[in-house]
Amino acid sequence: MADHTHIIGRADVDDYDAILAITNSDVDEVLHTVGNSADAIFTWDYERTRPALAKLYEKAKTSMWNANDLPWHIEVDQEEVARNNQNQNGVGQHLDTKGTPFENWGEKEWIRFGVESQNWTLSQFMHGEQGALICTAQIVETVPWIDAKYYAATQVMDEARHVEVFSRYLDTKLSGHYPINAHLELLLDDIIGDSRWDMTYLGMQIMVEGLALAAFGFLHQMTTEPLLKQLLRYVMSDEARHVAFGVLSLQEFYQQLSGSEIRERQEFAFEAAVRMRDRFMQQETWERLGVDVKEAVKAMQQSPERPIFQSMLFSKIVPNCKKLGLLDAGDGWLRDRFTELGVIQFEDWADTAEEYGALDEVAKDRAQVQ
Ligand SMILES: [Fe+2]
Ligand SMILES: [Fe+2]
Repeated sequence: MADHTHIIGRADVDDYDAILAITNSDVDEVLHTVGNSADAIFTWDYERTRPALAKLYEKAKTSMWNANDLPWHIEVDQEEVARNNQNQNGVGQHLDTKGTPFENWGEKEWIRFGVESQNWTLSQFMHGEQGALICTAQIVETVPWIDAKYYAATQVMDEARHVEVFSRYLDTKLSGHYPINAHLELLLDDIIGDSRWDMTYLGMQIMVEGLALAAFGFLHQMTTEPLLKQLLRYVMSDEARHVAFGVLSLQEFYQQLSGSEIRERQEFAFEAAVRMRDRFMQQETWERLGVDVKEAVKAMQQSPERPIFQSMLFSKIVPNCKKLGLLDAGDGWLRDRFTELGVIQFEDWADTAEEYGALDEVAKDRAQVQ
């Protein structure tokens, strides 16, 4: 396997020691500052020349929803949810626990893990949403096209609502918060710190939001908790538009880039993919449960469900990268990386610029009411 130290800071993608050495070193931090020297760009060209973005903008305006309208009165029994999740996804059930930290675990311990997993997952979603809020506000400033500025402004509102709903769910329905995962933070810092406007799009709209769309879809399908189900359904309607915004914008922009510029984008996509995969090892959960983190991560990686879950997270990213031409440019460098990560099988799945309308559950609900 090729050495990727210059991109991801370690030679071997699966080097657990290196992955787990990256931890959040300041968990009490309240304000986190990221430097950025991107130019804010005015355009005096107000002509609407990008109909696909204009269409997306119109859709965004009519698909706005209010977080207060979700059924917040529903009471959530977290242990019950954890039990149902475990019955559905089989975590721990098909694992050979002999010699692992889970050797003596019974139902009680697995339920506690399930509860902490919810706290952790929703916390990371909330932090990621704030990343999206900041990135998209940045795009409003830096993108030179008026149609894109209009659309991005609607996304800023969407992201505020997403931070709001995850935060409220954590505060009123769950039992604890987690600080941001260090791998996710590294990635968000990289995206925000890059002064090239198209890199913000690639990191956020294509990679982070592409993964979020798949992860929300997975959780939406799995959860039996009706409030979370509806919350995710509505967030996903917005997310699908956001990813489509990335695909539609970059498709145009990438046509004018040179081979070496495209290669930089491929490397950035690979770096983002690895960071996101690393974060799903959820090392902080193991820490809180007081088990040996490395042993726990290694054991979980061996569970039969793991490769399916891990690769499924990339089911939106890979077809979107293909649509942008990133997969096969420059001798298929990114294709090789995605093959090594075990996610290339999604390349011919629907890309999000094609399917975002079908994912608009808000519009479907409104059509039913009328
Ligand atoms: Fe979002
Ligand atoms: Fe989003």
